[in-house]
Amino acid sequence: MANNKTGFTSSFGVVMAAAGSAVGLGNIWRFPYICGQYGGAACLFVYLLFVFLIGMVLLMTEFVIGRRSGFAAEKAFPALYPKRPSWKIVGLFGMFTCFLILSIYLVISGWTVGYFWDSVTGKLASIEDGAFDEYFVQFSTSVWKPVVFLVIFLVLTLIVVLGGVQKGIEQVSKLLMPFLLVLVIVLCVRALTLPGASKGIEYLFNPDFSKLTWEGILAILGQALFSLSVGMGAMIVYGSYIPRDNNILKNAAWITVCDVLIAVLAGVAIFPAVFAAGQSPAGGPSLVYEVLPIVFNSMGTIGIVFAAVFFLLLSLAALTSAISLLETLTAWLHDRGMKRSVAAVLISAIELVLAVVVAYAYKREGFDGGILSGFTPGGRDLFDWVDKLTGSYLPPIGALFTVIFFGWVMKKEDIYDELSNHGVLKISWFKVFYHFLVRFVAPVALLISLVAGIFAK
Ligand code: TRP
Repeated sequence: MANNKTGFTSSFGVVMAAAGSAVGLGNIWRFPYICGQYGGAACLFVYLLFVFLIGMVLLMTEFVIGRRSGFAAEKAFPALYPKRPSWKIVGLFGMFTCFLILSIYLVISGWTVGYFWDSVTGKLASIEDGAFDEYFVQFSTSVWKPVVFLVIFLVLTLIVVLGGVQKGIEQVSKLLMPFLLVLVIVLCVRALTLPGASKGIEYLFNPDFSKLTWEGILAILGQALFSLSVGMGAMIVYGSYIPRDNNILKNAAWITVCDVLIAVLAGVAIFPAVFAAGQSPAGGPSLVYEVLPIVFNSMGTIGIVFAAVFFLLLSLAALTSAISLLETLTAWLHDRGMKRSVAAVLISAIELVLAVVVAYAYKREGFDGGILSGFTPGGRDLFDWVDKLTGSYLPPIGALFTVIFFGWVMKKEDIYDELSNHGVLKISWFKVFYHFLVRFVAPVALLISLVAGIFAK
């Protein structure tokens, strides 16, 4: 099948763009916390297994589907199996997932850009230690603040996507990803040299297999998928931009390594600092917006710089992920005949409305929420709904059907042909990959985790 679209120019470009998609809010505020909560090195061990055996296999799966078909998710499935066009439902399901993720991503990224601004202007440094929760609530539930910053972030994302696949996405990722690595290393060095830092390292890495519960294992698998951006068609789109002579296995391995590395480094940057400042670890928003500002303030004047560096790091990591989400949806509409620029603007406009609704639905436990937080169908506000759906349920469902299509519907010869670049590469690992990981391990693991996840409340 011909792939006439503009794609990425080199392996390096592919790895940076896809690592940009993978490294995001999930790595920096979710992974370290999950790691601490579910047994440190024990969790890390399981995470590495899942990431390399299931996550990376899905990454390769999506790359092959994308590059072979040359399409975004909706058309990719039928293109590879014309007998049953209804497989496009899996693609559409992925689009729905991306659509929801982008809305909540915009909200959280907006908060982050806002905190970056507050740290640069010195506002954060002027707040008393005990008042950060109140400050965060005021910020996140105010009518205009979250919206203003969210719009700034969305406009930046849109500009990059309008710049195109090569000149926008690839260029920006090649620039930002190495910069991100430098920022996170700077933060690690600072954190590790604080007195009392070792307790944080212990929290992160001390292996405690008793904390590794069944529930924990599910959370770790969900995180492995979410973190690699698989199970929703995003990597099918990036796959369709991979040059024909690139080695898909190598690309996928590098992307996975970058993703894990940044997640672990983020943990090393955060927890030693948290313990050194006498705070206790928390998860999600309160870690980033309530605990860390206290930590930065405890460093004295230089803390202002580190606060700015941290919120910049988080904003940029979120930006390359948001770019990937917007590109996924744009490429999908483009496949359906819409002009790229029109598609990107249209999606952004719809996401803006949705994101504002989600932002206004946010409620911090124990405080008054945003103006829409009283709307709680099924006992959850809309922010919680989107968070739960996108974090736990939708990605494994998408991943399960994608891998079933790949292992049981697509022709094995086609997969071999694509992974070996039409016989050019020697791929002695193919049998293990295909018969063991793709057809057996990945679907069984996904199915078990889904069923257990749904029944375990
Ligand atoms: N991987 C991103 C993170 O860790 C989040 C994400 C999930 C994503 N699915 C995606 C990003 C699809 C881009 C496209 O934060």
